Amino acid sequence: MTDRLAAADRPQAAPKAGEPSDAAGRSPIRSGRGELDRLWARGRAFLGTDLAVMGGAMTWVSERHLVAAISNAGGFGVIASGSIPPTLLDAEIAATAELTDKPFGVNLITLDPQLPELIDVCVRRRVGHVVLAGGLPSTAAIQRIRQGGARVVCFAPALMIARKLVRIGVDAIVIEGSEAGGHIGPVSTAVLAQEVLPHLVEVPVFVAGGIGRGEALLSYLEMGAAGVQLGTRLVCAHESIAHPRFKQAFIRAAARDAMPSVQLDARFPVIPVRALVNPAAQRFRAVQRDVIDRFNRGELSQKDAQLEIEHFWAGALRRAVVDGDVETGSLMAGQSVGMVTREQSTSDILGELVDQALAVLTTRESRRQPPAYAAAEIQDGGG
Ligand SMILES: Cc1cc2nc3c(=O)[nH]c(=O)nc-3n(C[C@H](O)[C@H](O)[C@H](O)COP(=O)(O)O)c2cc1C
Repeated sequence: MTDRLAAADRPQAAPKAGEPSDAAGRSPIRSGRGELDRLWARGRAFLGTDLAVMGGAMTWVSERHLVAAISNAGGFGVIASGSIPPTLLDAEIAATAELTDKPFGVNLITLDPQLPELIDVCVRRRVGHVVLAGGLPSTAAIQRIRQGGARVVCFAPALMIARKLVRIGVDAIVIEGSEAGGHIGPVSTAVLAQEVLPHLVEVPVFVAGGIGRGEALLSYLEMGAAGVQLGTRLVCAHESIAHPRFKQAFIRAAARDAMPSVQLDARFPVIPVRALVNPAAQRFRAVQRDVIDRFNRGELSQKDAQLEIEHFWAGALRRAVVDGDVETGSLMAGQSVGMVTREQSTSDILGELVDQALAVLTTRESRRQPPAYAAAEIQDGGG
């Protein structure tokens, strides 16, 4: 793919035999790449990459191999730190840097009690971008990262919060809609994009959630996004270490199989997580029902009942991704899972997205060219 993109970058290259050309003799594909590069220039400059496509951090999946593969393919890989201790994060960053000399980032969870130490590891290892997830970050955390020389990327679930994050020093925003895999908010990507993109121009904004094809990528760029972030679409990359059974579940699934977790009782909140429906997801309802009944009979305190519900998913993502236990594990996946139809190399996945975006631009450009007979008529003075 790199060769193809490098070729596409040459603006003066002549079209291949049989390939249509514009008035300046340029191939529309190549001028299409110029247009795409114009649209995502801000995102590319911010990330320091060929493609303004972030590989969203996925706990247990986004480790050195997938992260390096995404960066080597021209995107921006992000290590998922999950809840690993600083020493392991240090080793993971070092191992990733052995596999790629391209930029990559690290995703840290704001609620992690060791957040300051994890930030220090990123700074010491000269990680260029730290993505803070899992809740609103403190100003102190943002400053610690920036003072260490790295850029801070944060998730914003609404325009007001995005504005606040920019005020306290965040360098870029990810807006992630409810189509995404993993922990989700209530608002769809399409609506969040309309709420945020026209209004937030101070920093680059990356759009995530439900993006599986280049047409969608292009449409968000045209709305003002600096780039996009993908998770689900990358799980079945050859370079992803996810267990073959986890990948098979993705390949078999349709969009409608990726459902948010169900909460049975408002007194016992359940953090919404989008995942493929499996026996564990069904058992989760039964467990909630049983816990609520025991609480109602006075056999459990509210705190113990809540803990029992929360405990249900402990270790479940690891069981599915690492051990391949697709029955009792958590199969976190977004609705774009329906577009995952086979295992592919990371560079093919990213290459497909770029080709699909370029195809739209090419078709559009060729529609703008008058057809040959019309051009002849114009030359003849019409009539
Ligand atoms: C299996 C899985 C695990 C994920 N784990 C994390 C995580 O640890 N931290 C995080 O910020 N986002 C996590 N995400 C969200 C992704 O980083 C990304 O934003 C999301 O997948 C984008 O939406 P998409 O799935 O529709 O492509 C996870 C997503 C999946 C599918």
